[in-house]
Amino acid sequence: MGTKTETAPTTYTAIYTHMDKFVIQGGTPLHGAIPTSGSKNAALPAIAAALLTDGEVQLRRIPRVRDIRTMERLLEDIGTEVQVNGEDVTLQTRQIVSPEAPYELVKTMRASSLVLGPLVARAGRARVSMPGGCAIGARPINLHLAALEQLGATISQEYGYIEANAPRGLKGAHIRFDRITVTGTEDLMMAATLASGETVMENAAREPEVEDLARLLISMGAKIEGAGTSTIRIQGVDRLHGTDAPHIIIADRIEAGTFLIAGAITRGDVRVTGCVPEHLDALIAKMQQAGVQIGRGADWLQVTAGGPLRAVDITTEEHPGFATDLQAQYMALMTQAEGISLITETIFENRFMHAQELLRMGANIRLEGKQAIVAGQTTLSGAGVIASDLRASASLVLAALVARGETVVDRVYHIDRGYEQIEAKLIAAGADIQRVE
Ligand code: EPU
Repeated sequence: MGTKTETAPTTYTAIYTHMDKFVIQGGTPLHGAIPTSGSKNAALPAIAAALLTDGEVQLRRIPRVRDIRTMERLLEDIGTEVQVNGEDVTLQTRQIVSPEAPYELVKTMRASSLVLGPLVARAGRARVSMPGGCAIGARPINLHLAALEQLGATISQEYGYIEANAPRGLKGAHIRFDRITVTGTEDLMMAATLASGETVMENAAREPEVEDLARLLISMGAKIEGAGTSTIRIQGVDRLHGTDAPHIIIADRIEAGTFLIAGAITRGDVRVTGCVPEHLDALIAKMQQAGVQIGRGADWLQVTAGGPLRAVDITTEEHPGFATDLQAQYMALMTQAEGISLITETIFENRFMHAQELLRMGANIRLEGKQAIVAGQTTLSGAGVIASDLRASASLVLAALVARGETVVDRVYHIDRGYEQIEAKLIAAGADIQRVE
């Protein structure tokens, strides 16, 4: 058969305890092609979708990153057979054995709450640990819960767990999200596929990852219209089946954007391959205004530094606006631009931790609430810095690539949560990075 199941670590904490560091020598412009992996944030709900059916769900281009292993581990606990063969993953949930997401997993990865909707829909019951605070803000799941209640689930809360019950099944409803939520939209979309009657979701997230999930669910027999727009309509069905054909996850737009910035910040010449250029329009527009030349083909983008970099303001927004997941990396770029840029974060209330570390490398950044004021053209120099969340860590790696001398980025496990072999990909384009334990 040639399939093998990756051996999972014995405890959840084992996944997170190894403390690798990156030792990066800055100053080399990057050249060449860097391939994009499958999207982590599309793969996570796709894996959760396997809870909706007893059929076989075949996924392709699943990035081998830590958050994905955590999600696979969670599904195994719930009762799913998970077969991993490189980037091909086959999942089958003949039975829900334990409809629960424990604290140990939810605290390391909030996306664990994506099992809530599918579990209530299929098993009539779910128990998910309360997410609690995380590095980038409070990040509650109240909107997921309010919407599930509208579908008829009873929600209760006890001993740090949220319990959702719908023993007689969910019923379609008209839902209007008070605020746009990506995983909330995905969670509800999954739940509604098995609810009786029609569900309409308004003010839904329009992220490409939501659309990708809808494509997967449709291939499993779901009836969904409007994914990718702010109104999604779902006709519930009695049951879903396995995938008709293997579902190929979309390219990771955040990873691709990170590599575009890597090319620009090092004044290099980088072709990012296997990506979807339309998913990066907001970033591309800002980089072009900043003076970066960007060429594009059907599935690649080429960045050439060209003339001087200019400061350009950004405000993060829901898709198709400028992605909050690229804000930290863009800030690293702006430390090198001529002039002053204003970076406004509107999605998360505490997503500037990278600024403190960039300051340690010589950047000139002032924080005022949800705004960061970046004075550009600073000479960065190598320093010891600490990665605090996934995208913040990526911005430190980018800064290290242009800094003078050696930067040591500690707690690289944050990067490993969502970037597949980032150092190998950057090294292939000429970066000087070593992973040390
Ligand atoms: N919010 C609520 N209540 C809720 C849900 C969200 O108040 O019930 C708030 C959040 O606190 C936040 C805002 O609404 O201030 C938007 O949060 P959203 O729910 O959209 O975020 P998410 O679904 O938890 C996903 C990505 C994040 C990405 C955000 C925003 C996944 C697995 N995660 O998170 O990705 O930053 O959307 O685009 O898809 C990352 O990959 O590094 C990452 C953090």
